[in-house]
Amino acid sequence: TRRLVIAVDGPAAAGKGTLAKRLAAALDLPYLDTGLLYRATGRRMIDAGLDPEHAPAETFAATVGLEDLRRTDLRVPEVDRAASLVAAQPAVRRALVDLQRRFAGVHGAVLDGRDIGTVIFPDASVKLFITASPRTRAERRWEQLATDPGVPDREEQISRVEREIVARDAADSSRSVAPLRVAPDAVRIETDSLSADEVLAEALRIVARMT
Ligand code: C5P
Repeated sequence: TRRLVIAVDGPAAAGKGTLAKRLAAALDLPYLDTGLLYRATGRRMIDAGLDPEHAPAETFAATVGLEDLRRTDLRVPEVDRAASLVAAQPAVRRALVDLQRRFAGVHGAVLDGRDIGTVIFPDASVKLFITASPRTRAERRWEQLATDPGVPDREEQISRVEREIVARDAADSSRSVAPLRVAPDAVRIETDSLSADEVLAEALRIVARMT
């Protein structure tokens, strides 16, 4: 059978991970969350007491391996920011290209991120671009994180998450290297009014049509 590489790109908290993981399971392919590579690099800079915006982030990136992605402290706000800062550095991105390309091996893979369809796998079999409004994304992210859905300052908390998401999208879209862009041949899925099941069903239809 033919090698199947599926690129799932989009802005922060759009549901790329949820979709990519389920798509990989449905198609029996390995799955890589490439955001974790930048998160692991940012995490190491923080742990070493270094400014994520500067060298030697690339030397940390060069030694990031799949085992580092299992760390449980990669999805915290300070690492969100550190990941975005290390990800803007060309040398960091270069250091992580081979690992991502090798991951697809001979059989293929599903990868999610920002530049999978534009830079890492410009020849991907299928490119999906997953979006939703900032408000929808903030609500979903807040619901994932919330310990008490009945808190009185729910609105304030969601607004704060939304501001963080919008700031990270702006940084990821405006950087000069591998900015967040819709590849010309990507298929967009707007998920505001779709459930996770509906997004998966739509993605599977697109994959069936294009492969
Ligand atoms: O996807 P996630 O939100 O975990 O990614 C964290 C950060 O890593 C993003 O804000 C972005 O700056 C960076 N990233 C990237 N390219 C990718 C995946 C993530 O620049 N392919």
